[in-house]
Amino acid sequence: MPERNQAQLSQLVEIILASQKYRHISADLVKRIGAAELEKGRKPKEAVKAAKKKLHQIAGAYLAEKPVYPAWLQTLKASIQSENPQDLKNACREILQQHASTRERLPILHDFYTNILDEVGPIHSVLDIACGFNPLTIPWMPLQNEFTYYACDIYDDLAGFLNSFIKLYQAKGEAWVCDVIYQAPKQEVDLALLLKAIPCLEQIDKSVGERLLDSVNARRLIVSFPIHSLGGKQKGMPKNYEARFYSLVEGKSWQIKRFEFDTELAFLITK
Ligand SMILES: C[S@@+](CC[C@H](N)C(=O)[O-])C[C@H]1O[C@@H](n2cnc3c(N)ncnc32)[C@H](O)[C@@H]1O
Repeated sequence: MPERNQAQLSQLVEIILASQKYRHISADLVKRIGAAELEKGRKPKEAVKAAKKKLHQIAGAYLAEKPVYPAWLQTLKASIQSENPQDLKNACREILQQHASTRERLPILHDFYTNILDEVGPIHSVLDIACGFNPLTIPWMPLQNEFTYYACDIYDDLAGFLNSFIKLYQAKGEAWVCDVIYQAPKQEVDLALLLKAIPCLEQIDKSVGERLLDSVNARRLIVSFPIHSLGGKQKGMPKNYEARFYSLVEGKSWQIKRFEFDTELAFLITK
């Protein structure tokens, strides 16, 4: 990139990271999205606008309110110390409501994991890719008593919150900031989750879905897609996403099982 564009890119990154909405987003991701917009020949102001729009589409649109992680951690801590196991589920539910993707999973949460993982052997380790708030659904997952949970997304404040939750839960593992378009996670696990992430990631890079499915180091993967748009419209989405999914796994000798829920279309891949 020419020097003048480098300066424009640094400025674009600075402007975006200074905004309330995007200050916790991976600077590397902002840089990559910003560079792509400048390379299209956009003027700096337009490139900032276009990059913000992309960030909104792939992440910002899912978070309605400003997350209050310290307060949520206090609630989770109190519920974990309570003798009633239902208290923890209730606390998690409240927080899961605050992210559009897990909010629409709440009505199907119990069946989602029970049905999909019914015939799957013991799960000692999970990798949750582009996780959003989904690690808070751990209490519904049929995991072994001692398990390791890895989770990554693009927000550093979310990673901090999830690390505290994993610790509170006395599980092993970690959450970290990633850009899975640039680098796929390498952990070897029993189960990987790629929940409703492919349509977001493919807005930046059309080849990322196939790359992730190939490179993730897990024998089993749950891959899912939304049934409705964020605005609530269906617009033939399940049919289109199903076709997209089958095109991604075409030619692979993997076993595929399909599950349709009211709010989510899911596939279990066994490699
Ligand atoms: C539709 S949400 C799905 C969240 C979660 N998997 C679920 O189903 O509840 C898409 C998620 O992808 C994350 N994301 C977007 N681009 C990403 C990237 N390049 N690397 C990692 N995560 C990304 C967003 O921050 C957001 O949490």
